[in-house]
Parts: sequence; structure tokens; C-alpha cells
Amino acid sequence: MRYAEKVGHHNLLQYHRGNADERRRIFQSLFTTLGISLKGASFLDLGPGYGDSLDLAREDGATCVEFVDYDPYVVVFNSLKGYKGHRFDYVVGKGLTPLFPNKYDVILSKGSINADAFNRKEPGMILFPAWLAQVENLASARGQIIICPTFDRGERMSGASYHVCRDPEAFRQSWFTQILLENGYKTLFIEGFNETERFPFTFFKKLG
Ligand SMILES: C[S@@+](CC[C@H](N)C(=O)[O-])C[C@H]1O[C@@H](n2cnc3c(N)ncnc32)[C@H](O)[C@@H]1O
Repeated sequence: MRYAEKVGHHNLLQYHRGNADERRRIFQSLFTTLGISLKGASFLDLGPGYGDSLDLAREDGATCVEFVDYDPYVVVFNSLKGYKGHRFDYVVGKGLTPLFPNKYDVILSKGSINADAFNRKEPGMILFPAWLAQVENLASARGQIIICPTFDRGERMSGASYHVCRDPEAFRQSWFTQILLENGYKTLFIEGFNETERFPFTFFKKLG
């Protein structure tokens, strides 16, 4: 934490002041519900923020714990904890292709891709089907992929965030959701992990 204090990183400090056990339990609920064992697994988090998922993966016996994030402070912070970090924006340019293919048993993205932006096909962004193919290309033969997207910033807060899903039913019908369904993802609401307004959807696929 000395690093986060030194650079005055608001989000990292805010996370740190919160309840670490509670945050850890969020990811524990996810892995328990999905029956995912991290023992001996290689784990990749796309956008780990404070890195609770990385801590949990290491505690649960993952042999390889890596992450990608474009925030240089997040990268240094989690690297200082001993995790291998890659610093780049994964939704533009070459996206995730710089990473080693077929390597990761568990790939997680929580709150770190904006589904509304993908649905708008924002200029400069990789199209969602291509991005999803890049994620799958990183997964091992028995890989498991978890995607819990975030949304645009709205007017109203839910919990500590303005990024809520405004219209869950419209989102279910959206291109983003349809692409995931066509590619064999299940849509889930996981108690303890999902939140009704802010994170209402988890998409999950087990390869192999
Ligand atoms: C809201 S935080 C979520 C943190 C963590 N996954 C959690 O649920 O506690 C989003 C994280 O994703 C990173 N991020 C968002 N978009 C990104 C992108 N396009 N490329 C790389 N990192 C990104 C941010 O820097 C941040 O660390």
C-alpha cells in the first residue's frame, strides 16, 4: 500500500480502505458457484483493479497469475504483489493478441469492459465478436471464461457507482448478449457476485 499512498491513487486507496475479506468473498462466490478450482491453474484477469481476484487465485493455489490493465498504477501495484502484469488497452489496436495463446485455464473480466460501448461499435474499438475470439484464443483446451461487463455512466447511483445497466431487458436483446449466446455462453446471476443494477449479468463458458 505504500506505493498507492506515494502516488496518491484514489481508486486503489479507496479499495484499500474498504473491507478486503468482503471483496474477496465476491470472487469466492463466483468460483464456488461455477465449481472452478484454481489449484494448479493458470489465471488471467483482464482489468483487475486492486487485484482481489489475483490474491484469491494465488491463495487458492493457481500456479500462474497474470493480468492486463492499461492503468500504469494498477500495473505497478499488482506487480509489486508479485503478479505478472501486461500494460496495454485490450479493446483497441491489436487487443489481446500480444499475450501467449492457449495458456490460461481461467480468464476473468469483471467490470472491465463496457458493454454499451461494444454495442455502439465505438470507432477505434475492436468489434465485439473479434474481441471475444481473442479472449478464447488465450484459453487452454479446458479453459473457463467469465465476463461480467460494466455499462455507461448514468445519472443515478447504485451502490458506489454510476455505471449501472439502465435497461436489463434491452441489454438481453442487444448485439453484445446475442454474440455471447451464439458462442455458447450461459447468462447467469450469481448470488454474492452479481449486483442487480450494477453487475446484473455474468456470462460463462467452459471450453473443451
Ligand atoms: C472498475 S475496475 C474493476 C476491477 C476489478 N475487476 C473488480 O471487479 O474489482 C476496471 C479495471 O479495468 C481496467 N480497464 C478498463 N478498461 C480497460 C481496457 N480497455 N484495457 C485495459 N484495462 C482496462 C481499469 O484500469 C481497472 O483496473
